[in-house]
Formats: sequence, C-alpha cells, structure tokens
Amino acid sequence: MKKILVTGSNGQLGRAIRREYAKDDVTFINTDVADGEGIVRLDITDVEEVLSMVRDTQPDVIINCAAHTNVDACEKQWDLAYKINAIGPRNLAIAASETGAKLMHVSTDYVFRGDGNMPYTEFDEPDPVSAYGKTKLEGERFVRDFADRYFIFRTAWLYGDGKNFAKTMLRLAESHDEVSVVFDQKGSPTSAAELARAIRHYEGTENYGVFHATCEGETNWAAFAEAVFARAGKDTKVRHVTSAQYAEMNPDAASRPAYSVLDNYMMRLTDGYRMADWQTALDEYMAELPKQTE
Ligand SMILES: NC(=O)c1ccc[n+]([C@@H]2O[C@H](COP(=O)([O-])OP(=O)(O)OC[C@H]3O[C@@H](n4cnc5c(N)ncnc54)[C@H](OP(=O)(O)O)[C@@H]3O)[C@@H](O)[C@H]2O)c1
Repeated sequence: MKKILVTGSNGQLGRAIRREYAKDDVTFINTDVADGEGIVRLDITDVEEVLSMVRDTQPDVIINCAAHTNVDACEKQWDLAYKINAIGPRNLAIAASETGAKLMHVSTDYVFRGDGNMPYTEFDEPDPVSAYGKTKLEGERFVRDFADRYFIFRTAWLYGDGKNFAKTMLRLAESHDEVSVVFDQKGSPTSAAELARAIRHYEGTENYGVFHATCEGETNWAAFAEAVFARAGKDTKVRHVTSAQYAEMNPDAASRPAYSVLDNYMMRLTDGYRMADWQTALDEYMAELPKQTE
C-alpha cells in the first residue's frame, strides 16, 4: 500500500489533504510540530529528526504542508521563518532523495514582486518583497538543489480549515458594521480543498517541476471580503482602502505584492489540469464551513 508522510498536518492544507485522501487506500503518517490526535510530532527544521522519521517510515511520498505562514510576523522573526520555510524543505528534500520518495512542496505567489499587470508564469523571475516571500523562495531553491523527484506548487491567498482571511472577515462581522480592506492588491483566492485535489492529481504522476496552482480568475481583498459576506448573508460594509492607508493603520504589516495573479501555465501545458474558478471554490467552502474544526 502506498505510504504518504504529511508535514504540517494540522494546518489548513494538511487538513484538506487528509479529507481529500479519506477514501483512498493509502497509509498516512500525519506529522506536525506539535503532536495531537493521530498526529506524530515532527519538527521539519531539525535535519536529524527528519532523516530519522523518513528512514524509519520509508514513505513513497512526502507532502510538505508545514510553513511559517504569518506574513507580518515573518518580518520580525526572520531566523524562525528561514528555518521553517527554507531549512525545513531542505531537510525534507535531503531525506526524500536518500530514500527515493517523491516530494510535494508548497510555495507562494509572494515570491513575485507584484509590480506588473500580467499573470506570472512559472518562467517569470521571482523577486520577493517580504521576509515570508524571500524565505519561501529559498525553500524552493533548496528543494530544487536537493530533491531528485519533486513538485513545487505555488499557491495564493489560501483558505481552509484554520486561520485565514475569510474567517477573519466573518469574525469581524460579528462585532463591526464596517471593515476596512485593501482594494489595490490583486490575486487569486484559492481553497485548500482545490489545492489538495491538484496535489493528489499530480502525486500520481511523474509530471515533476514547478507549478502555479491557484484557483482561476482574479480579485482584490476588498472584493473577496464582499464575496464572503454575500455568501454568509452578512450586510457588513467593506470600506475600500489603499495599501498605503492600511500601512498607516498597521505599521507592522509586511509589504505585499500589488499584483500577484499566477497563470497556471504548466498545468495547462503539461496535462490540461484545471483548478476551479475562485468563486465556485468559495461557494463550496462556505457550504462546508459548519463541518470545520476551527
Ligand atoms: N495561507 C496562505 O494564505 C498561503 C498563501 C500562499 C501559500 N501558502 C503556502 O501553503 C502551504 C500551506 O499553508 P497553510 O495555510 O495550510 O499553513 P498553516 O495553516 O499555517 O499550517 C502550517 C502548519 O505547519 C506547522 N508548522 C510550523 N512550524 C513547523 C515545523 N517547524 N515543523 C513542522 N510543522 C510546522 C504549523 O504549526 P503551528 O500552527 O503550531 O505553527 C501548522 O500546523 C504553506 O507552504 C504556505 O506557505 C499559504
């Protein structure tokens, strides 16, 4: 039976992966930095721990869902962000190449500068503006350097079972009649469920490489908030603010790309796999919300 080791199992994507494979005949080794029900402790920043776990369990596939995803906190926690987002994937890549496992790694649209107005393809040059983006880019480089058979999925604006923008908006709507949200940053909200489906699809192939993996279409954060409120039946107003106004209100916020829409070019070109458009994925997410654990 196929054996899959998942890191960061308790995060949004980790949970979506478990759901996506729930009906498959696969043995899962679910790990995270803190242990829990059905989750074994594995800190990906520790090379000895990673090597020992992978040597002992001999997985066919490693899916890395672990990351330091708090973009603002990464600015002040550079060393920690580098350890989790760069050294962690390096350790997994070393272990995967030693044992012959496929490595499925996840990266971000924030590897791009975001000063253009055309969707980025996999062949555009990354140039991150934040500590999060820089450390994630180093993680990609380590995976390319150390893994033999790897996939890197760059996703964006991810939301699932866990902390995310949509949930923050819904929480704020409980106590506010109006929320201020930036309208001058464009991207593609992507559900963890849609990303998990894409990962499962590619996991069964030898179609290795770097893939942009976002839901189709683009929007901005303010319009995304409005879409969430409309689906939740909330009449909370969204005040559209610029990134500069938001930065004045939140001086510790990291810089973010103004335009980080990704073109899923490699998917289209290699096997025609298509991810759902962001509005359909959001419909599905809102319908599933009551079943979520967080
Ligand atoms: N969230 C987004 O908007 C977004 C956008 C683009 C790309 N991505 C990428 O998508 C992937 C999945 O993101 P996500 O939103 O599912 O992340 P998430 O919900 O923050 O989950 C990450 C998980 O990794 C765990 N973790 C942290 N440090 C670890 C360590 N040293 N060893 C093992 N596990 C560790 C976290 O535990 P703790 O919670 O205890 O720290 C958490 O359970 C990541 O690669 C992320 O960079 C996310």
